[in-house]
Amino acid sequence: MEKILGIALILAAASAMADKIDKRQVLYLTEVQRHHVLTEMRALLAGTQDILEALSREDMASVESYARPLGTNMTHKAEGHLKAVLPRKFMQLGMSTHKAFDQLADDAKSLADPKHTLRQLSESMKTCVACHAGYQILINERASQMEAQPSHHKH
Ligand code: HEC
Repeated sequence: MEKILGIALILAAASAMADKIDKRQVLYLTEVQRHHVLTEMRALLAGTQDILEALSREDMASVESYARPLGTNMTHKAEGHLKAVLPRKFMQLGMSTHKAFDQLADDAKSLADPKHTLRQLSESMKTCVACHAGYQILINERASQMEAQPSHHKH
């Protein structure tokens, strides 16, 4: 009887794993790494809102200045030490988002065509959508504890 119960429990646990509600690929990050990624994400959202607001006024100089910091120079801050822990596909999606903002800033300056910029923004936001559909972040508790100990802190 006990054996049967044990097997039933194992089967229940296995099917619970197969039926995970959130099926997106999990990225296990330390608290600091997660904080870096999510801080960048909030900057992307805030910047996108700023761009839309400037665009509604057809103020293309402001569009350029809001888009510029979301471009590839944003990556120098955090991505360096995240490269080792994040999947290549994820890094590529991130990089193509930053390149799209570079292009958007360049075009806002050289073409100054709000309709063109609006199309570009809509197109580049497909990358936000695609990446969010594919990945979720969970905290790697053990690595986070190591990170909290100064002796293990490498920078
Ligand atoms: C390379 C992948 C990727 C791209 C591209 C991407 N994100 Fe994210 N974003 C994530 C992941 C992963 C999370 C965490 C999701 C989770 O754990 O459920 C996230 C979370 C967020 C959050 C929540 C932040 C918080 O404080 O919890 C916002 C807002 C966000 N992204 C905005 C954006 C916007 C806007 C864009 C496009 C301009 C974008 N992201 C592009 C991967 C990406």
